[in-house]
Amino acid sequence: MTLIDKSGFNDKTASDVAEIEKSCFDDSWSKESIISTVNSEFSVFFALYEDNNIAGYVIGNIAADECELYRIAVLKEYRRRGYGDVLMKAFTDCAYKRGAGSVFLEVRSKNTPARSLYEKWGFSLIATRKNYYKNPTDNGEIYRK
Ligand SMILES: CC(C)(COP(=O)(O)OP(=O)(O)OC[C@H]1O[C@@H](n2cnc3c(N)ncnc32)[C@H](O)[C@@H]1OP(=O)(O)O)[C@@H](O)C(=O)NCCC(=O)NCCS
Repeated sequence: MTLIDKSGFNDKTASDVAEIEKSCFDDSWSKESIISTVNSEFSVFFALYEDNNIAGYVIGNIAADECELYRIAVLKEYRRRGYGDVLMKAFTDCAYKRGAGSVFLEVRSKNTPARSLYEKWGFSLIATRKNYYKNPTDNGEIYRK
């Protein structure tokens, strides 16, 4: 397993991430959105590779002392092997090193695997946005660490 950071992000990585987005999310990000987000000044990006294939990634942003985790995903065939943990560690270590006081994220209330991952990593539920997500309708749970 190989972990790359933003310095290894290129056009191929963006295509790979866009493919995982399509397989994981109803509101998947386009390749163009991924490129513009990752190339922005304060972004954070890590991707995991297994046998030269992308297995997962995390994308976020750190501005001043606040950090937001936008996306984390692991391809179905690679789940439950600890890759989510590896990505969360890389992301939270980076936030800590860059001096972020808090890390925020939002997740569908019915997304049990993700909520369990966040709670394992010490995130606490701070607010609920009623019916924030559509197709299907779901509450948005805001977490902070
Ligand atoms: C959430 C996600 C990234 C977890 O990735 P993963 O590689 O399977 O996670 P890991 O194997 O590292 O597991 C880490 C922890 O996550 C939680 N977890 C992962 N899958 C779970 C599941 N199916 N049910 C309950 N908890 C789960 C557990 O707390 C687990 O810790 P444990 O193994 O000590 O019990 C993955 O399920 C995924 O890509 N989901 C689709 C995309 C998504 O919903 N992303 C979050 C919104 S941005």
